Amino acid sequence: MNQEKPLGITIAVGNQKGGVGKTTNSIHLAAALGLRGYRCLVIDLDPAAGATKHLGIPVNSFAGSLELMSTEESVENLVVSDNMPTGVHLIPSRPQLSELDGLLSKFADRTKTLDRPIARTRQVYDFIFLDTAPSAAAITTVAAYSTAEWFVLSAFPHPLSLAGLNEALRDIADVRKHRNPNLEILGVVFANVDGRATRLRSQLETVVQEVLPGRQFETSISQAVIVPQTSGQGTTLFQRDNYADIGVAMQYLRLSAEVEHRVTHREPFLAGRLGPVDYGHLFDATKAPGGCADELKKTAANS
Ligand SMILES: Nc1ncnc2c1ncn2[C@@H]1O[C@H](COP(=O)(O)OP(=O)(O)O)[C@@H](O)[C@H]1O
Ligand SMILES: [Mg+2]
Repeated sequence: MNQEKPLGITIAVGNQKGGVGKTTNSIHLAAALGLRGYRCLVIDLDPAAGATKHLGIPVNSFAGSLELMSTEESVENLVVSDNMPTGVHLIPSRPQLSELDGLLSKFADRTKTLDRPIARTRQVYDFIFLDTAPSAAAITTVAAYSTAEWFVLSAFPHPLSLAGLNEALRDIADVRKHRNPNLEILGVVFANVDGRATRLRSQLETVVQEVLPGRQFETSISQAVIVPQTSGQGTTLFQRDNYADIGVAMQYLRLSAEVEHRVTHREPFLAGRLGPVDYGHLFDATKAPGGCADELKKTAANS
């Protein structure tokens, strides 16, 4: 696959709320797709540098998204590739990113600061994940929404999530109207799902089904302590030798197949005509020695 022309797909992962799984989803979707042979880039656009820390990069040790947006520095020079999950590169962040506004020319269009670098990364990567800050008004978030063609809404099922979901959807409608008519909602990822809170989950799913028919993902991500544990160690579930035994890792692999299916069939997906995902294709991709085809089949049978 690596010889082929890159897919160049750009996905903004967002929600104006913090602590709803944006960073965990960005990194694990990238790592799942990376494992399956795709070239993935995560760009950390949050001054809190969640993705940078999650991938084990000491904050302040590298130039990154600040330079990407405020200088002519090339993407290649800003990418971190050592000790990353298979197939994943990172453009890190650091707290100074919050000072971006002051570094830009007062005549520059702030919403366009990612257009040039993203045009370049599209020629090199299959998937570019933009992990955004928990603020829809941040320049980095506006620039991400203005340049991406897909939006993944991240949410934890919580009684207060509904208001947040509606606010996020209003923001996207606004971006489409004023900035980027090409931005489409790829789906809503429910993560940190407590298996016991089935009523709440089904209520939220009903709401998503009503406001965004067809944009619900089949796969949701369970609550599991191994997720914050692994993040605290600066690594991902897919870098653990036993990842095939970790339920959440298998869920992210299945979710990655849904993402792949939708973005590679954009037109029928948006028209509501897309057929079901072929997970068999996913099993093939993971049949390599040390792959996890059997475990995936088990999770498929149980879901
Ligand atoms: N599936 C999960 N199970 C348990 N904890 C999770 C899960 N997904 C994310 N978390 C934890 O929830 C917190 C917030 O997630 P994070 O991805 O940082 O959200 P955001 O980027 O939206 O602020 C983190 O501590 C993360 O480790
Ligand atoms: Mg985050």
